[in-house]
Amino acid sequence: MKILQSRSELALWRQKLSPAKKLGLVPTMGALHAGHGSLVSQSVADNEDTLVTIFVNPTQFGPDEDLDRYPRDLEGDLALLAQLGATAVFAPPVSEIYPQGPSHITFAIHGLDDRLCGASRPGHMNGVLQIVTILFHLTRPDRAYFGLKDYQQYRIIQTLVEELYFPLEIRPCPIVREDDGLAMSSRNRYLEGAYREQALFLQDTLQRLRAAREQLCQPGTLDTLLTAQQARYPLARLDYLEILDGRTLSPPAAITPEQAPVAFIAAYLGDTRLIDNLPLWDYPVVSDL
Ligand code: PAF
Repeated sequence: MKILQSRSELALWRQKLSPAKKLGLVPTMGALHAGHGSLVSQSVADNEDTLVTIFVNPTQFGPDEDLDRYPRDLEGDLALLAQLGATAVFAPPVSEIYPQGPSHITFAIHGLDDRLCGASRPGHMNGVLQIVTILFHLTRPDRAYFGLKDYQQYRIIQTLVEELYFPLEIRPCPIVREDDGLAMSSRNRYLEGAYREQALFLQDTLQRLRAAREQLCQPGTLDTLLTAQQARYPLARLDYLEILDGRTLSPPAAITPEQAPVAFIAAYLGDTRLIDNLPLWDYPVVSDL
């Protein structure tokens, strides 16, 4: 497995790949877990070559967020990626990606980035779009792989690629969960003691919403459910809980399978902010997006 740290090394490596072979890209911020592993395995299965990027992108963190303490484990990540069959890893320092400081270009994908994490983490989606655009241009993949835990991120990136005719395909991959249902996240490493158990607030609330999907149009159902959940999980502090049309990320006209409603949740366990989501029926099919 080739390890690349500069744009020039990457360009040289990319140039040598045969145009007849497919390249899969898995962008990550490192501290890899089985969720990332599933993206890499899918790419290895689909493509002759798989490039994984490891870059903790500063422009997607707000001033009071966890950029400095975001978990980093390059050695562990490289061992896992070699085992999974990645062809190469691009792990540049910040100065290689933003040599003149943060990018001057701002992205907004109206309608898709003004709710959920787009609203509660101002500037976050812009930073994600900056880095994925840079990585797409530097690496020129045929396919890029994103996990559905970050559903809003996936929808926004897919829209970017589609509307601006980026020559690649976005492949969404299922959420990978711990045995008790907690969605895998690099930030789960922060959870200590009772916070780990109370983190089930997210998945448990989503499952209960899904079980109550036929009653959700009745006034008060959601509030009653949430009040009971907050009593069950006193250490969890809700950031948002929204049910949105999975295609447009706007409030659905009705809670019916035709609207492909998806429930989205974000909550703090101490200082750790986690997100999760669950379709109330199924995720919209890609051709409907
Ligand atoms: O999902 C992530 O890990 C990041 O947002 C991404 C897509 C790698 C961009 O930094």
